[in-house]
Amino acid sequence: MSINKVAVLGCGLMGSGIAQVCAQAGREVTVIEVSEAYLEKGLGCIARQLGKMVEKGKLTAEDRDRVQARLHGSTRLDEAAGSEIVIEAIIENMEDKNKTYSRLDQICAPETIFASNTSSLSITQMMTATSPERQRRFIGMHFFNPVPIMKLVEIVRTILTDPGVFRAATEFGREIGKVPVQTSDRTGFIVNRLLVPYMLDSMRALEEGVASIVDIDNAMKLGCGYPMGPLTLGDFVGLDTTFYIANIMFDEFKEKRFAPPPLLKRMVMAGLYGRKSGRGFYDYSDPNNPQPMNLL
Ligand code: 3HC
Repeated sequence: MSINKVAVLGCGLMGSGIAQVCAQAGREVTVIEVSEAYLEKGLGCIARQLGKMVEKGKLTAEDRDRVQARLHGSTRLDEAAGSEIVIEAIIENMEDKNKTYSRLDQICAPETIFASNTSSLSITQMMTATSPERQRRFIGMHFFNPVPIMKLVEIVRTILTDPGVFRAATEFGREIGKVPVQTSDRTGFIVNRLLVPYMLDSMRALEEGVASIVDIDNAMKLGCGYPMGPLTLGDFVGLDTTFYIANIMFDEFKEKRFAPPPLLKRMVMAGLYGRKSGRGFYDYSDPNNPQPMNLL
């Protein structure tokens, strides 16, 4: 079973990346957003990314045009009808997701696979908003930021997922150029289960005066060969997002290592969300030369 028609719900940072990757892999993609303004912003972001690839000689102008022609934008959920897979990358709010899934269940054909890009919410809970038949065709497909660059996709099954659907989704992940890993619906899946405590520990190390922001980052970057230090990564992912995921994981496992440290909580309360708000562990007034903040 080859999946050719894709609907992507949400055209933010993750949704736009997912749509771009699917269109580059030759899929017909319908991108659905809640407003024209969000849609335009997301499609504009994809156009810029593709433009950069043309400038760098990684894509010809003709191929760029073909990719663009495979991308269709809409603000109507019923445009998802006819897709073989729906990849949902909307706001991380269970109520919003379940309302959307319940409507989608009526709109899409019985064979359509539903896949959520959630990083930390329960796929099983989302699945319950759909009919018993759809529940067998419900999975997680968790991509990583920046989606066009990061090779990984986590394919997540629930206890009700049909093994054939799990295999088809894994194969689809491979066909769109990613390396799929298979896991089951346990909060954080593989990556966030390991990554989030590591990031939180780096913040605890800062709070406890183990070292400065720059030295903690340099230690892990140069000592372990990570592309970014953990505090830079926190700013990159978004500290509000990290705080949100940590709280869900702590709630699920009740283990200290998932508890957000007080410093993170205060930074989020103060609006220091990282790169997206201009300040986090670093000040991005000059984006090419971020300066560590004085936080303690
Ligand atoms: N979007 C698209 N492309 C991007 C990009 C972006 N936001 N940022 C960088 N790139 C591209 C650059 O254009 C460049 O492409 P080129 O090789 O064709 O010239 C390439 O990536 C490398 O970029 P740079 O040379 O500018 O910088 P780096 O070598 O430092 O790479 C990075 C940037 C890829 C972001 C790298 O630092 C990295 O891999 N960082 C770690 C990212 C990471 O861990 N992501 C996962 C976060 S966790 C997550 O998403 C899960 C969620 O649930 C929280």
